[in-house]
Amino acid sequence: MTASSFIAFVSDPHLSEERPFFQFNWEVLLDELSRQQPDLVLVGGDLALDGANNPSDLRFARRQLDRLPCPWLAVPGNHDIGDIAKSASAEAAVTEERRNRYLETIGRDFWSFDIGDWRIIGLNSMILTSGLAAEAEQERFLEDSITQAGSRRVVILSHMAVCDTALSEFDVTGWFMPAESRAMLSPHLVAGRIQLLLSGDMHQSRDRLIDGIRHVWAPSTAFVTDMAGEWRPHFGGRKRVGWTEVRLGNEIDVRTHEPRRMVDFDIGNWVHDGAGLYYEFARGGRFAGFGIGSKTISS
Ligand SMILES: [Fe+2]
Repeated sequence: MTASSFIAFVSDPHLSEERPFFQFNWEVLLDELSRQQPDLVLVGGDLALDGANNPSDLRFARRQLDRLPCPWLAVPGNHDIGDIAKSASAEAAVTEERRNRYLETIGRDFWSFDIGDWRIIGLNSMILTSGLAAEAEQERFLEDSITQAGSRRVVILSHMAVCDTALSEFDVTGWFMPAESRAMLSPHLVAGRIQLLLSGDMHQSRDRLIDGIRHVWAPSTAFVTDMAGEWRPHFGGRKRVGWTEVRLGNEIDVRTHEPRRMVDFDIGNWVHDGAGLYYEFARGGRFAGFGIGSKTISS
């Protein structure tokens, strides 16, 4: 029996100095974690409110991450480096420049970290299908990291979830890792070398066994969208803000925390209109996006 490692799995804080809509919940999180003293914090992406377009959001997110009471590791989300090329418009898609800004501000976007008997591999899911040189580098890195893991069991952390109900499914929603990219994980999943998949992005918590592998979605610390489930795809998760306790030992223990002090901000109405319009609200003292909510852009 080995001692388990206590990981606080946090995601989608959407931090911004100029538009600190969700800073309150971040302060609650910092207070919670300073009491709980995890060994490591994993952050599942969307660190910034709009880091892809506003470098200051990314810089602020970095300063906030450095306030965590223990070491942390993060992977980028679409709000940090742009969206996955396959489903984004040209302006919204990941680029070399945006990725480089992330590397300079936050750190490596794909990495491997050993803790106890486990190896955690962080992946940049936003560069999948991008054709950027880093996409192929990451694939080789993943392969090497898994084959060199020895007796360690492997956890994969990515912003995007790998699949909804089955590895073999054909996704028409655009919310899941593209099938051609999922293929780099499949042989290791089938062989049982990867035992846990952690992801953010959905702003809902879910813990499901799919084809024998544990898939855990972190809730956002910042906000939910369409909590009432009136128009947004739900995928069967729970739409509340919070964070996830993951204990890695002989067993995998997962527990979602929904601190009562956190506020369940629901920005479903913003997303309906194109949240980018409202993200401009109060930026630099201007109210640029306010009152023009009929235009629809992707968020
Ligand atoms: Fe997010």
